[in-house]
Amino acid sequence: MRGAVEGPVDLRSDTVTQPTERMREAMARAEVGDDVFGEDPTVAELEALAARMLGQEAGLFCASGTMANLVATLTHCRRGDAVFVDGEAHVVHYEAGGASSLAGAVLWPVPSRDGHLTPEELEAAVWPEDPHRPRPRLVWLENTHNRRGGLAYPPERTLQTAQAARRLGLRVHLDGARLFNASVALGVAAADLAAGVDSVMVSLSKGLSAPVGSVLCGSREFVEEARRWRKAVGGGMRQVGVLAAAGLVALREMVDRLAEDHRRARALAEALAELPGVSVDPDQVHTNIVLVRVDGAQAVVNALRQRGVLALALGPHTIRLVTHRHVDDRGVERAVAAFSAAVGSPGRIA
Ligand SMILES: Cc1ncc(COP(=O)(O)O)c(C=O)c1O
Repeated sequence: MRGAVEGPVDLRSDTVTQPTERMREAMARAEVGDDVFGEDPTVAELEALAARMLGQEAGLFCASGTMANLVATLTHCRRGDAVFVDGEAHVVHYEAGGASSLAGAVLWPVPSRDGHLTPEELEAAVWPEDPHRPRPRLVWLENTHNRRGGLAYPPERTLQTAQAARRLGLRVHLDGARLFNASVALGVAAADLAAGVDSVMVSLSKGLSAPVGSVLCGSREFVEEARRWRKAVGGGMRQVGVLAAAGLVALREMVDRLAEDHRRARALAEALAELPGVSVDPDQVHTNIVLVRVDGAQAVVNALRQRGVLALALGPHTIRLVTHRHVDDRGVERAVAAFSAAVGSPGRIA
């Protein structure tokens, strides 16, 4: 009910969601053990459930999406290997360069029309083995795509790219931090969205509302090796079933309601599209992220804040708005009203 009170409407990210009461109860009751000894039954249950939902053999609970992505890179790549990736990917912009500084991988941005590398885009970018060049190793996909406004890509797109990668001798990692948003928006199973990839990570701590955690999934052999790398980066955790318990509630109870966030994001985009000085394409709003173009994004964000609406400037002309469990219909109305006032006079208010 947080969105119903007249506190701030926080559209900065779905990561601000608070754990539910059922999560807190499950955390309090969780049966735990030393997970580095493989003795935490709640973690084992979470890893098995995530793997099943993603159509993979095994899973590995990680502290964050960034850690899961880093562990995936360490597992797939040796130092100097090339990772083919859309230049707008989260791993390129927001993971502190860990793929390069810690895994030694070369992130190789590939020009892409919509952010999900096609077979043609990939084939044009990849080179044959050559001692002068980084060794082609991994293709990196993201679904939904954060910086491209939460775009959801259907299973056939991933499968075609995975098949092309296979022909080129490359592996595929899917950053599915918001894969369940894509699953709900497209009406397909998350497992279908991960078909053909070698590894996939999903976050529990975004729209699904768990306080912490992501699960990295793949073959048994991949996860066994990833477990070593997780330990190496300090991610071996002990009685961590207290956190996995919230993750289990997230996967069991919080997926279907993501449709509400998508409906509100669409409503927000449609209302904002009517305002002068704001450019947004509601048809590009597939899930819970809305990208809005304005003049002077930071000034508009400052002006929105004065009116109790929190948002993030992604660049000089782009604002990102993310709907989640604590933004209700009234929150959407308040955001539209605040935008209407802010774009009218951002300079004066900021
Ligand atoms: C697409 C994507 N990948 C990875 C991450 C990283 O997750 P975390 O914040 O848990 O490290 C995020 C976080 O927003 C994300 O949007």
